[in-house]
Amino acid sequence: MNIAIDGPAGAGKSTVAKQLAKELKYIYVDTGAMYRAIGLYLIRNKVDLDDEAAVAARLPEIQVRIGYRRGEQHVYLNGENVSRRIRTQKVGNAASKTSAYGAVRGKLLDLQRALAAEQDVIMDGRDIGTVVLPDAEVKIYLTASVDVRAERRYLEYREKGMDADLETIRREIEERDYRDMHREIAPLKRAEDAVVVDTSDMTVDQAVEAIRAIAAQRA
Ligand code: DC
Repeated sequence: MNIAIDGPAGAGKSTVAKQLAKELKYIYVDTGAMYRAIGLYLIRNKVDLDDEAAVAARLPEIQVRIGYRRGEQHVYLNGENVSRRIRTQKVGNAASKTSAYGAVRGKLLDLQRALAAEQDVIMDGRDIGTVVLPDAEVKIYLTASVDVRAERRYLEYREKGMDADLETIRREIEERDYRDMHREIAPLKRAEDAVVVDTSDMTVDQAVEAIRAIAAQRA
């Protein structure tokens, strides 16, 4: 059985999916990390992110690989473990911009499908229920209000000791939502057969429980 979780930035997808994967003994696949790895490479190499042709031209130089250590997903960019380095607002924005390009999406689609074909996965992203795994047995659209999502990201950055400004985070989340939902290829939207879970007023445990109940019903 595959579980697809889509939704906007900060809805709690990765936190909830990770916990549920542990409980159900599924593999957790964070597809955003793959787009972030590509974003990081492009930033490091000073590629103009608004130039689709320039981005596409660099893709053959980029190898993204996923590995697991003690049950945790790690993402490797040309052999380097970049799992921590990709967790910044700058890299997230770069991923959001460049994930709109067909060549970038095409590069990651096969890798994502191959992971789900090999084992039971809980996969999160923006287009998992609609494009990557349209036959997933369970589809969740996880969301929350912009205020709540901005606050969560803010706390997450502060906990990591990173500089963070709530207003800037809020604005960037809104911009990212807009871009992710309005791009031509594989935009973020609820799959027709996805169940909406709004986590604005839920704890992590409550959100996990809600999805577990939906999965149990489908199973
Ligand atoms: O989930 P995240 O914040 O790590 O994702 C970063 C960006 O990657 C997101 O803004 C859009 C893009 N993305 C995507 O287009 N499709 C996915 N399945 C996952 C992420």
